Amino acid sequence: MESMMPFLLCVCLCLLLAPHGQAGNVKNCHPSCTCEVESFGLFDSFSLTRVECRGVDPGTSPVPIPLDTTHLDLSSNSLSMLTDVMLSGPGYTTLVSLDLSNNFISVVSPKALSRLRYLETLDLSHNSLEELAEGFFSGLPLAEVDLSHNRFHQFDLDVFITKGRAEPISVDLSHNQLTEISSSSRSSLLHVQSLTLAANQLRALPILTGISLRDLCLDGNVISHIDEGAFDDLKDLVHLSLSGLTELSDIQPNGFRGLQSLQVLDLSNNRKLQTLSPAVFSGLVSLQELNLSNSGVMSLPNNMLSFLPSIKSIILGQHIHCWRTQKQGQFHRQLGPGHVPEMVLTCDVDGIVS
Ligand SMILES: *[C@@H]1O[C@H](CO)[C@@H](O)[C@H](O)[C@H]1NC(C)=O
Repeated sequence: MESMMPFLLCVCLCLLLAPHGQAGNVKNCHPSCTCEVESFGLFDSFSLTRVECRGVDPGTSPVPIPLDTTHLDLSSNSLSMLTDVMLSGPGYTTLVSLDLSNNFISVVSPKALSRLRYLETLDLSHNSLEELAEGFFSGLPLAEVDLSHNRFHQFDLDVFITKGRAEPISVDLSHNQLTEISSSSRSSLLHVQSLTLAANQLRALPILTGISLRDLCLDGNVISHIDEGAFDDLKDLVHLSLSGLTELSDIQPNGFRGLQSLQVLDLSNNRKLQTLSPAVFSGLVSLQELNLSNSGVMSLPNNMLSFLPSIKSIILGQHIHCWRTQKQGQFHRQLGPGHVPEMVLTCDVDGIVS
């Protein structure tokens, strides 16, 4: 009997802690939606309600959803506009994630999202958006925004900030530098860590001053050049994807200068990009992976390594792989104490490094 105790204890704990769905038993679930509640924790003290309403075609009134819904999928519904009321009503205020992808949304009311004050993840990809009103995302704790496959020609910070309406600050500003305070209160408003603007019609880099982005994807736009200091404001960026920029022919020296945290840079499929001077990589002190596969760049200057102290892998052409190695032919007796071995770029195909 005693030997059963640990086993029983384990069974009890597992029953208490494991999430258990209660699909089909959720109040207020629209007949065309699928609602699922996952409960966690001791005595089910914590639960998530996921509601999937694809192909429901709700028109312009809100789809009724259960109270406390956390995740709502409204993708593939032929929606063409977002009005002020469509994302309001019981259940909407608690949303943490909202999927509106694969609709035909081209018109959005400036306040369409204003009630979603816990929203962290928003997917508006595969729609027909050309612009969003100033302040459209303001006041939302958004961490992840997907705006890929839309029709943006330009994009800037205005959508995250309401200008002209001072944010309430209850401190005495009289003896301070106002410019500094406004920029720091700005950044504390912006939680966005991941932004995807792939497959739009951007001709210029978006202006993203003051957002502590970690992930930025601009693949498949028509950006033609990257100027010196273009990314100066994105000090926290870890992953930057600039693949398939059909018009990109020029990256200026110091183009990536500000990206001190960047670990992965994807420049693949940029056929018009032919040469890169070593100084293009200046400032990329954390960069580990550089992808130039299927781009116009077919050789690499050996001295680019002096700008890339952390690089582990460079890919170019069709599956050519280069990496950093210690220079050959340096014999031990020549090396004094404290000698730092010289590093060179080595590739699995000859004639790449010049
Ligand atoms: C490099 O880019 C190519 C083309 O976009 C992609 O197929 C490949 O997976 C990338 N390689 C790495 C290591 O990310």
